[in-house]
Amino acid sequence: MKQTKEIPTLDNISINDNVQVYNDAEHTYLDAKVLEIKENEITKEKLYYIHFLNLEKRMDKWVEQHYVLKNYGHSNSNLDGSNFINHSLMKDNIVLTRKQAALFMNESDKEEEGEEKVKIRNIEKIIIGYYSIEAWYFSPYPSNFTEQKVLYICEHCLKYFKFKNTLIRHIKECEYQTPPGKKIYEMGITPDKSTSKKENRISFLVSIYEVLGSEKKLFCQNLCLIAKLFLDHKSIYFDVSPFKFYVLYEKDNNGFHLVGYFSKEMSDSSEFNLSCIMILPPFQRKGYGQFLISLSYFLSNKLNKISSPETPLSDLGKLSYKSYWTMTILNTILKNKGMLNVQTISEQTGIRIEDINYTLNELSLIKYWKGQQVIQNINIKQIEEFLKKKNESKKSHIKFDPKYYIEDN
Ligand code: ACO
Ligand code: ZN
Repeated sequence: MKQTKEIPTLDNISINDNVQVYNDAEHTYLDAKVLEIKENEITKEKLYYIHFLNLEKRMDKWVEQHYVLKNYGHSNSNLDGSNFINHSLMKDNIVLTRKQAALFMNESDKEEEGEEKVKIRNIEKIIIGYYSIEAWYFSPYPSNFTEQKVLYICEHCLKYFKFKNTLIRHIKECEYQTPPGKKIYEMGITPDKSTSKKENRISFLVSIYEVLGSEKKLFCQNLCLIAKLFLDHKSIYFDVSPFKFYVLYEKDNNGFHLVGYFSKEMSDSSEFNLSCIMILPPFQRKGYGQFLISLSYFLSNKLNKISSPETPLSDLGKLSYKSYWTMTILNTILKNKGMLNVQTISEQTGIRIEDINYTLNELSLIKYWKGQQVIQNINIKQIEEFLKKKNESKKSHIKFDPKYYIEDN
């Protein structure tokens, strides 16, 4: 096969090249791919938008030239780096032309090549309520709002502004002094005096409001635009009317603060009990994800429905669901002293059979026997110990409690 020899230097690095980039968190150079190149307007230095091949896409970022290691190989590997074209060729710094590389690519790689251009993160951070939050992904805010790379967001109506002063002026006359929609949940959180964490010593309320996309279109569209900053999936932004939004707030002496939300199709006949879930980064890993997932199952269980979230799940979505399913299924097994099958677990929890099988499989608690899935290896003592440890580690987590659900009002 004809090969072209070309060693990328900083001068000839181009889009799609594989390079090595210094990663501050890991203190080492990692394999990366160049997705875009631009020039610093003032210094004229080249800037590279790179994707670390073995890291999640939210780590994509602009780096300056001195972060990039030159004289590294060049290939047309696909985005996640799983399809390196030919390692022996890489070592010799021999480059395949795009056409040659295509010969090595399978169908799905070709599809990826044909996909729309990679969306570069357009907002660096948002300022909302008490927080300044770094964005993870591109979100389709109008381009005239993204020039400054910072957005100031009203935490009540979720409108976005380019300047702090405009936001301050807006807040005084914002139409939403309380959240829109119907309050469906409210629970007080009292200070935990034993903790050394300052943030855990303040009392606040956790509230959820149900907002209809068809009634509060702009609010829901703005919520989706915020969510997209932390979601790599294609998510809805503009046609919000077929969805309900369950919006989660913390309320303290200064008012309501947006924590996150989940959306769900309006139609009760949908097989999904949740379309999209997002918890703002400052509130993540405190149990709020599980809290909203519990609410989504609580609502579908009220309708006697076996349900599931809409797929695909993001990496963090998978972790959250796996944790929720594990805890719920193991608690159900314990409650029934191990004497039950997958069908009964599904009926008692409202979790879809496929999701139960997946979870039991991950826990090595299921086997195929005569064409059927059979629960095996149940050791009640081990399960008790596992759940005790988990509950201990989640002691400070906010938990959903059905007694605070407000029935139709
Ligand atoms: N690294 C490792 N584990 C994590 C991380 C992380 N960064 N974040 C959460 N987890 C684990 C937690 O340890 C926890 O497991 P455990 O209970 O066994 O300890 C579990 O995931 C859930 O933790 P929560 O605190 O309940 O979840 P959180 O409030 O952080 O919210 C969520 C989870 C909603 C997925 C959040 O990470 C998020 O908004 N991510 C960005 C948007 C997104 O990816 N949404 C899901 C898309 S899929 C869909 O919408 C159907
Ligand atoms: Zn407002």
